[in-house]
Amino acid sequence: MECAVNIDMLSDYTGVDVADTFRQIAEAGQDIVDAQTGELIIVRHREVRALLPAAGLTTKRPQRDLLALDSLPPAAREIQLAMKAHYARWPLFSDGDYHRRLRRYLTRSMTDIVEVVAGNAADHLREAQRQTAGSSFSWLERVAEPIAASLVGTILDVHADEAAVLIDRATVIVRELAWPILDDARAADAVTAQRDLASWLERALPSAQGSTRYLRALRAIADDPALGFESASATLAQTITGAYDPLVSVLGTLALTVGPRELAALAPETIAEEVLRLATPFRFARRFTTEPARLAGHEVPAETRIFLGLAAANLDPRAFPDPTSLAARQSPHVAFGLGRHYCLGADAVRSCLVGVVGALVEARAAFTAHHVAYAPELSILRFTAMDGSWRAY
Ligand code: HEM
Repeated sequence: MECAVNIDMLSDYTGVDVADTFRQIAEAGQDIVDAQTGELIIVRHREVRALLPAAGLTTKRPQRDLLALDSLPPAAREIQLAMKAHYARWPLFSDGDYHRRLRRYLTRSMTDIVEVVAGNAADHLREAQRQTAGSSFSWLERVAEPIAASLVGTILDVHADEAAVLIDRATVIVRELAWPILDDARAADAVTAQRDLASWLERALPSAQGSTRYLRALRAIADDPALGFESASATLAQTITGAYDPLVSVLGTLALTVGPRELAALAPETIAEEVLRLATPFRFARRFTTEPARLAGHEVPAETRIFLGLAAANLDPRAFPDPTSLAARQSPHVAFGLGRHYCLGADAVRSCLVGVVGALVEARAAFTAHHVAYAPELSILRFTAMDGSWRAY
């Protein structure tokens, strides 16, 4: 496989802002391989968009991938298999009839909360600003995390305290999932976390009828004999992991990239799209070939894992001239994916961001960061610190 750039997914990226690396990769426009595994990563926007919905690529892990677990001691193998079986029921990691059936329940299951989350996000921003005016504060703790928690609470119709417990459990799962190597301790913690979420769902489902559309959809999934409770529980786990972490990262990116100039010059909807594009918290969409295929000029055997580089594609200067600046654009970004796995929370997230931007415009305030730190994984954008203060304009 010919390529110009190597990337190492297994390295520790703590403290590194890899945005510039992704920009260089996008600018070079040449597909890259993982330095450790030799796996292909496709980075050009046009090709990533074409391949995201492609029929010959699946999100479902091939059975033979599980053979690697045979060499583990029995107890470790059992834990790994339990998590793999759970992930296989997630909307994202399933395909075919099962996935289509799940989507039928989930599509439009958040239309009832889209308006509400914009108002909630704006209220949180105003309140945080009132409490932190004139002092240095953590944007993550005072703004991003409460807003993301409020979104999860609204989807699941629970108060902040209960949402915090569910998010804590989901965070354990996402840390296991984003970790590129098998780690028994992380997997064991993830099994416990997944069981805790299932117990919560068991308690929540009986009263789902009078609750949000999303909980009603989970109830319908649990009641469907072709799907069942385990599928509803897997959907819940993906919803929380898929909602909280990336939204915190997008709100962090908003704080770092949106200043007085952007707030004055661009519509809130444009700012929301641009911040999503620049953040792209899920940096790679994982796919497996179902048969031998020619992908972006590369011959790839069947059942081979490849990555679609969403973060690099969103900085491709052929699609987004001057890609690191915010502007009204023609090309659509791929931060939410595309096709049959397109993000189910996209409208809710957009609405939340527009609410935040609207409140910033109203307050004539932006954030200036003094200290920013990043988590170790390359596969997702996650900040571990973001301290700074307000500046009026
Ligand atoms: C900024 C926040 C978010 C980002 C950047 C994001 C991004 C994505 C991406 C890229 C995918 C597709 C992955 C692929 O094709 O491999 C996806 C799928 C998904 N997202 Fe989100 N997401 C966000 C928030 C949410 C929220 C709030 C929910 C709440 C319900 C959610 C639920 C899902 C689900 C269930 C899927 C799987 C859909 C399927 O496979 O059919 N996401 N998301």
